[in-house]
Amino acid sequence: MEDTILVTGGAGFIGSNFILQQMERSSPHLINLDKLTYAGNLRNLETIARNPRYEFVHGDIGDRLLARSLLQRRQPRAIVHFAAESHVDRSIRGPDDFLRTNVDGTFALLEEARAYWTELAGQDKSTFRFLHVSTDEVYGSLASNDAPFSETTPYAPNSPYAASKAGSDHFVRAYHHTYGFPTLTTNCSNNYGRFQFPEKLIPLMILNARAGKPLPVYGDGQNVRDWLYVEDHCGAIATVLERGKPGETYNIGGWNEQRNLDIVEMICDMVDEMAGCGEAPRRRLITFVKDRPGHDRRYAMNATKIERELGWRPKETFATGLRKTVRWYLENEEWVSGVTSGSYREWIETHYAS
Ligand code: NAD
Ligand code: DAU
Repeated sequence: MEDTILVTGGAGFIGSNFILQQMERSSPHLINLDKLTYAGNLRNLETIARNPRYEFVHGDIGDRLLARSLLQRRQPRAIVHFAAESHVDRSIRGPDDFLRTNVDGTFALLEEARAYWTELAGQDKSTFRFLHVSTDEVYGSLASNDAPFSETTPYAPNSPYAASKAGSDHFVRAYHHTYGFPTLTTNCSNNYGRFQFPEKLIPLMILNARAGKPLPVYGDGQNVRDWLYVEDHCGAIATVLERGKPGETYNIGGWNEQRNLDIVEMICDMVDEMAGCGEAPRRRLITFVKDRPGHDRRYAMNATKIERELGWRPKETFATGLRKTVRWYLENEEWVSGVTSGSYREWIETHYAS
C-alpha cells in the first residue's frame, strides 16, 4: 500500500493550505474528504487536482459507511481532521450544524477510525495517528492581565462554536484514555492568510476596504486575538503529526496579540498604499457596530510546549504575513468573485443588516 494520509475538510481555508504545503514538502498520498459546504472551495486546490498523489472524495464525515470504505480502500497511516463548521457568528445564528458536524461528525469519524485501527497490526498499528485540529476558543476568555492559555487551562467555551469544538476535543481525549487510540490534539489561535472565506475579520476588512464599503468593527474594537499565519499553523500540524506524543495536546500560537481596531487600521493603510486612495484614506470607513453576543475579550496562547518538546516556532511576522495576505486578496480577483456571490451576499446582508 502507498503511504497515505486522510485529510478531512481539506477544501477549507486551513485544510487546503495544509494539503498544498504537504504536496510540496513531503511524499505521502493525500486524500481529501470534504462535504463542500459554503466554506469548501476546490479552486484552492486546482493546481494539484490532477496530481496522482492527490484524491478528492466528496462526502460528509458523519457518513460512516463512506468513511469505513475509504479507510479500507486507502489504508491511511494517519487522519488529519480539519472538517468543521468554523464561524462563531454563524454558530450564534444557527448552532445546529455545529453540533452535527463538530460533535456528531467527529464522533462518527472517531468510531470508524478506531475500528480501522483496531484491525491494524505491528508497525502499522503502532505508528497510526489521529490528529484533531482544534482551537484556543475552548479555553474561554482572558482578562487583560491574565496569563496566556496553556495546555492545562480549564475548558470554558463561551460560544456554540467553541462548545462544539470543546465537545469534540473531549471525545478525542476520551478515546485515547479509554481505548488507547493514538490521538493528537492541536489547539491553535486565529489564523490568517490566502483562501480564508471573507466572513472572517481579516479578509472581510480587506475586501470591504478595497470596495470602499463600511468596515464593521464589533463593540469598541478592543478585543484581542493572537494571530498566526496559516502556513505556520500548517507547519506546526505537520510537526505534531511527525513527532507529537499520542494522547497529548499542543497549543499553537503566534506570540502575536493584536487588538481588532489596530488590525483594521493596518489593513486600511495597506490597501491605501497598494490600491491608492486619492484624498480619502480608508480609515474613514471604520464603523463601530453592535457587539457580538458573548464576545470573548481576549485570547492569547502560550506555545512553549510545542517549541520546547517538538522544536516548532512560527516563521512569519505579523507585518510581513498581513502584507502578503492583503496583496493576495487584491491580486486574486477571480477567487474573490467566486466566493462572494450568492450565499455569501445573503450572509452579509442578513448578518450586517442592522
Ligand atoms: P473552514 O470553515 O474554512 O473550512 C471547513 C471545511 O470543512 C470546508 O471545506 C467544509 O466544506 C468542510 N466541512 C464542513 N462540514 C463538513 C462535514 N460534515 N464533512 C466533511 N467536510 C465538512 O475552516 P478553517 O478555518 O479552515 O478551520 C479548519 C479547522 O481548524 C476547524 O476544525 C477549525 O475549528 C480549526 N481552527 C480554525 C482556526 C481559524 O482561525 N480559522 C483557528 C484554530 C482552529
Ligand atoms: O481563535 C481561533 C478561532 O478564530 C477559530 O477557532 C475560528 O474558527 C475562527 O473563525 C476565529 O474565530 P474569531 O471569532 O476570533 O474570528 P473572526 O474573524 O470571526 O473575528 C475576529 C475578531 O474580529 C473577533 O473579536 C470578532 C471581530 N470582528 C469580526 C467580524 C467578522 C469584527 O469586529 N467585525 C466583523 O465583521
